[in-house]
Amino acid sequence: MPTFDLDAYVARSHAVDLSSFAWDDVPRHPVPREALRTMQYMQDIESHTIIYLRSLLATRAVDDPEVATFLACWLYEETFHGIALRRFLEAAGRPTGARERPRGQEPLFQRIEAAATALVSRAWPDFCAVHMTWGAINELTTLAAYRRLATVARHPVLTELLEQIMLDESRHFFFYYRQAEIRLQRASVARVARFLVDRFWMPVGSGVQPQRDLEFISRYLFADADGIAAVRKVDDTIRRLPGFATVQLLEAWMNRHVGGRNGHGHH
Ligand SMILES: [Fe+2]
Ligand SMILES: [Fe+2]
Repeated sequence: MPTFDLDAYVARSHAVDLSSFAWDDVPRHPVPREALRTMQYMQDIESHTIIYLRSLLATRAVDDPEVATFLACWLYEETFHGIALRRFLEAAGRPTGARERPRGQEPLFQRIEAAATALVSRAWPDFCAVHMTWGAINELTTLAAYRRLATVARHPVLTELLEQIMLDESRHFFFYYRQAEIRLQRASVARVARFLVDRFWMPVGSGVQPQRDLEFISRYLFADADGIAAVRKVDDTIRRLPGFATVQLLEAWMNRHVGGRNGHGHH
């Protein structure tokens, strides 16, 4: 795998250009109800990035200047994904409205998560390897979700918007994945990282969004044959990381949470 060119990334880091989309055309094409629900979920996650970063800033993640530089641009780009999705929802006649929970008053789960993150990172200097692995999994999952959303929603303006967003997500993935690959070279680090992912990983948004929404969206995007193929591709890519050859991620989660009710996936 080639190296990630951080300087080039920083130089090109940009907000999604809101003026480049034909928002007036949005209501001229049908937007599936399921797609709206998916976008609302994704919009909240994207806008939530700064809260997620808050817990990371309490860790050793930012001890590394390259990671710190990346995170600054990453936050900027993710935030604009949220703004662009909100704009689409407004144009589709589904404004997102005020958020139920004001920023900074996140539920208890997240406070615990933030505290645990800080604790683990203080106790273990290689926490950054976990953070990078985690980031790679989440970016790749997000990328797969957007790709599937564009395919199943079949809305021309949405497709254009998602193509722009996916360019950013694939760069994000590449940064995290490359970092993880390097940091997991040490077997002792890989073992702990693997343990923490096995133990704690859940799809993006778990714990901050209703579980039923996550299951609904997973079924909408990933339950058919193409969806399952996309899910397996995510898992297979992560399995190429050192120490992760047998990790059980998205497909296993789908089997536990979605497969049963959908009549597929149970072995
Ligand atoms: Fe994003
Ligand atoms: Fe991203």
